[in-house]
Amino acid sequence: MPPNQAAPLAREEDRHGGQREGLRDGPREARAQRDGALLEVWDLVCHFKLRRKWWKGGPAPVVRAVDGVSLSVGRQETYALVGESGCGKSTLGRLILRLERPTSGAVRFEGRDWLALRGDHLRQARREVQAIFQDPLGALDPRRTVGKSVEEALDAHNLAKGQAARRRVAELLESVGLRPALAARYPHELSGGQRQRVTVARAIAGGPKFIVADEAVSALDVSVQAQVINLLADLQESLGVSYLFISHGLATVRHMADRVGVMYLGRLVEEAPAEELFSAPAHPYTKALLSAAPAPDPTTASKGVELRGEVPSAASLPSGCRFRTRCPKAKEICREAEPVLLAVAKGRSVACHFPES
Ligand SMILES: Nc1ncnc2c1ncn2[C@@H]1O[C@H](COP(=O)(O)OP(=O)(O)OP(=O)(O)O)[C@@H](O)[C@H]1O
Ligand code: SF4
Ligand SMILES: [Mg+2]
Repeated sequence: MPPNQAAPLAREEDRHGGQREGLRDGPREARAQRDGALLEVWDLVCHFKLRRKWWKGGPAPVVRAVDGVSLSVGRQETYALVGESGCGKSTLGRLILRLERPTSGAVRFEGRDWLALRGDHLRQARREVQAIFQDPLGALDPRRTVGKSVEEALDAHNLAKGQAARRRVAELLESVGLRPALAARYPHELSGGQRQRVTVARAIAGGPKFIVADEAVSALDVSVQAQVINLLADLQESLGVSYLFISHGLATVRHMADRVGVMYLGRLVEEAPAEELFSAPAHPYTKALLSAAPAPDPTTASKGVELRGEVPSAASLPSGCRFRTRCPKAKEICREAEPVLLAVAKGRSVACHFPES
């Protein structure tokens, strides 16, 4: 079925021949399957053509920031994206938020063609898909009180005005764990954690169903990180919201995510329920990535696999498998043929010619 038609849960292996059924584990995944996916991304591509002046001679290079990603996120599910810097996580998030235009591919939100929405339809739909970014100071207007910033979000969606808006702002601040009196403060008068709670209040003002949280806690102190993570988890329960949770912090991802997608140079190389991915990674890159992180549990299966060398440029990819220049298991076929993401077990997919079983 082409990606621009209504479709059931999309999986990468379906696009490449669909050898195996992509059955899912766990209650949330069962619910996502029953209710249908909230968000579906089909073969999404975002290439940036660099301007010629930066590149003397030859054709202008193309950065393959996102290079054919398909995934789906269920209702009230947290799907985490991990991978080294520059692998395309934020670009994928920005494509879903429509802050970036895709080169090709499709996104469906509640079955609607998300990328085709325009005008009032898009304005209305934007209420339902919101973002929380790393830097709350940059996201809030320094000349407005935080109360005004949250009120502005209500106003943008025509949800409340005047006294009713101020009452609603107080409720929203309370729901993110802030005293309503803080509405009169300016962003620089709050702590980093309080500021991030204000951006969460703005994000939930319109009653979203889906939030892209891009490194939303990375800049906070560890103890504050835990508080904001717990807040996001509580809001998920109370609002039924789904998250695309982008993070370098693997411990946070393990705690927060239902499923995890591992990206390398613009592609998903592994997708699995969070606990399975962390306890038994199947892709050599996932193993190395987990080994590189400080392990809370020294007995993890990924122990001892070194992540060697630098990530190649996304403008000059290796032939065959993109990870082969750093992979300890690389063989001749890895140079010749790019592995596709295939189901290796119930709920698990891996793009490797020699996955761990
Ligand atoms: N507007 C742009 N023009 C050209 N290249 C871009 C643009 N935006 C992103 N890129 C490139 O696309 C690739 C993916 O970038 P992206 O920001 O999505 O990575 P990331 O996984 O979010 O990294 P990080 O973990 O550092 O935030 C990088 O090579 C980046 O330099
Ligand atoms: S396909 Fe080959 S190079 Fe790529 S990850 Fe698997 S073993 Fe390593
Ligand atoms: Mg990023």
